[in-house]
Amino acid sequence: MEKFIIEGGKRLVGEALVSGAKNSVLPILAATVINGKNSTILNTPDLRDVGIMQQILLSVGCKINKMDNMIHVDSRNLNKVRIPEDLVREMRSSIVLLGAMLTRCGEVEISYPGGCEIGPRPIDLHLKGLRELGANIEELHGFLYCKAENLKGCEIQLDYPSVGATENIMMAAVKAKGSTVIRNAAREPEIIDLQNYLNTIGAKVYGGGTSVIRVDGVDKLDSADHTIIPDRIVAGTYMVASAITGGEVVLKNIEVEHIQSIIAKLREAGCMVYNNCTTLKIIGPRTPNAIETVQTLPYPGFPTDMQAQMMALLTIGNGTSIIKETIFENRFKHVEELIRMGANIQTVGKAAVIKGVNNLTGAKVSAKDLRGGASLVLSALSAKGTTEIDNIYHIDRGYDSLEKVLETLGADIKRVL
Ligand code: EPZ
Repeated sequence: MEKFIIEGGKRLVGEALVSGAKNSVLPILAATVINGKNSTILNTPDLRDVGIMQQILLSVGCKINKMDNMIHVDSRNLNKVRIPEDLVREMRSSIVLLGAMLTRCGEVEISYPGGCEIGPRPIDLHLKGLRELGANIEELHGFLYCKAENLKGCEIQLDYPSVGATENIMMAAVKAKGSTVIRNAAREPEIIDLQNYLNTIGAKVYGGGTSVIRVDGVDKLDSADHTIIPDRIVAGTYMVASAITGGEVVLKNIEVEHIQSIIAKLREAGCMVYNNCTTLKIIGPRTPNAIETVQTLPYPGFPTDMQAQMMALLTIGNGTSIIKETIFENRFKHVEELIRMGANIQTVGKAAVIKGVNNLTGAKVSAKDLRGGASLVLSALSAKGTTEIDNIYHIDRGYDSLEKVLETLGADIKRVL
């Protein structure tokens, strides 16, 4: 199993290009089954999860051509409705195929995605919304058997602004009879990106980015080209890499509007941040300030996907900080690993109290999930001595050549078998 070996204490300096957004390319690749034609998706990141989504599209009969950061999908010959169970197990976010497949072929069979490292990940809101649109969904022996002769537009009130449920309902409504209104919709930038792709193939989706999204059903759809938005969480992770090493890093190809909550918290931590719309320079402090409270919230609040990375920074803050995780039930698995590196953290339910220490020390640690793994890399960059991180396959799910980018910024990081 591959691992990272990191010699800490190097100040990161230089420029980094931010890759396309994982949480945008996954739903948009799922959506390419809808038009039964061609889609050219640009600025795609090279990630394990993107590879799995391509395998799923191939398994149902789509043709795929990948070249560098471009994926071309021809979904004309889609001829299967069963999503392979092993691939769903590898990537639970394949559940976002439900809405797209129901719109394309009126039928889909997919194994229950189940929970993952960060929580049970229920899909009750997805199923409730799809049933309100007229889908018949049977749950049997861990499988979902979904059929929808004709989907009919309706008004849907989400109990929680679930990103995945919003995406599934948007895609199921594209060719439904009449209009669909989704209230309490997720407002993440990835929702706007999906809306833009859907409208480029000829759908009529309005309100993405607000909590009310309207979809007017259409009959005809076309081929399309679409460029994926930059990954705001990758951008935030690189920003923390600069902050935690007292570095000076310039990020290019970002959407500054999407990372305002991250910029605000890093400024509170003592970073200097200068930016225009698509480029940003972040200078880390000698010692980060403690931050009274960091609370994760749905967008535009502070993202749960940046919680672990922020915790890494605050472990060397000059005081006590509190992080409250309000989105997922079990997203503190990195805490015990950070403590092995000398951090002083106490968790009480979904809150973590972090007492800053002068410095972390290198240790052997394990990545337990994607963002927790990234937080261990960040801590290792600043720790005194050598850190060994195993199970880095978790990290590869969401970061495209992380070690190469950090190396160009001056980090001493090696991927070894
Ligand atoms: C998306 O997950 C992202 N994944 C997650 O990123 C991200 O953390 C999350 O949104 C929140 O921003 C992708 O886009 C592929 P949710 P999703 O539905 O759609 C509860 C990463 O690290 N809920 O908004 O699964 C759920 O349990 C990943 O890149 C229900 O109760 O998130 C959770 O507590 C991790 N019932 C909360 O809502 C449902 O039917 C947020 O879930 C659906 C969700």
